[in-house]
Amino acid sequence: MTLLTDPTPYRHTLIVGGTGMLAGAALQMARRSWRLTMIARTARSLQHFANRLDADHRPPTLVRANYNDVARFAAVVDEIVAAHGVPTLVVAWFHGDGAALRLAQQLAAGGTSCDFYHLLGSASANPATPLDTQRRPFDQWPALRYHQIVLGFIIESGRSRWLTNEEISAGTLYALHHQRSRHIIGTVEPWSARP
Ligand SMILES: NC(=O)c1ccc[n+]([C@@H]2O[C@H](COP(=O)([O-])OP(=O)(O)OC[C@H]3O[C@@H](n4cnc5c(N)ncnc54)[C@H](OP(=O)(O)O)[C@@H]3O)[C@@H](O)[C@H]2O)c1
Repeated sequence: MTLLTDPTPYRHTLIVGGTGMLAGAALQMARRSWRLTMIARTARSLQHFANRLDADHRPPTLVRANYNDVARFAAVVDEIVAAHGVPTLVVAWFHGDGAALRLAQQLAAGGTSCDFYHLLGSASANPATPLDTQRRPFDQWPALRYHQIVLGFIIESGRSRWLTNEEISAGTLYALHHQRSRHIIGTVEPWSARP
């Protein structure tokens, strides 16, 4: 994976769903953040992530919460904000958009500035629902800078394939480093060529 050197550490990073395909990026972000909070559903995946940290990493706060339990998840986020303030950087990987929008709204409510990077599955790039249309509800809060990271696919030697976890993590770090408002990892065109 390409390591990017970022001179400015993130103050408080919140990652939701970063223990799977995003773990490589999350490990780098743990190095670059004064404080990192990681939310995932199971103790097992959080522990697996923690086992990959080394002495260079500041110990992250690992929080177990299921984002499909809407009230409980909101309460957990409130606790994180009460303890450490609104995260200055959020990287969010949810299955489905409802939970991402609720989190964005909750964090934006106080008016504190926040960069919100939203990982979107390949289906999000279906031309039937333009990415501009999908981002509109997230763009309504002045304090929240919304960024889309779209998981595409790779076409090589005339064949297409899905991204590897390494490519997803490297692409996510690239989007963060360059503060892209939209970054497509790989390609989503032609749409008919997806694996
Ligand atoms: N377009 C492409 O090229 C491409 C490539 C690779 C993968 N993908 C997509 O990525 C997905 C796999 O991603 P992944 O390896 O990151 O695994 P995942 O099963 O999507 O889990 C990702 C993360 O989300 C957490 N999570 C899942 N459900 C949760 C919930 N209800 N509440 C809180 N946290 C939750 C997981 O924690 P726990 O494990 O603790 O639940 C983990 O941290 C597949 O669906 C695939 O479609 C796409």
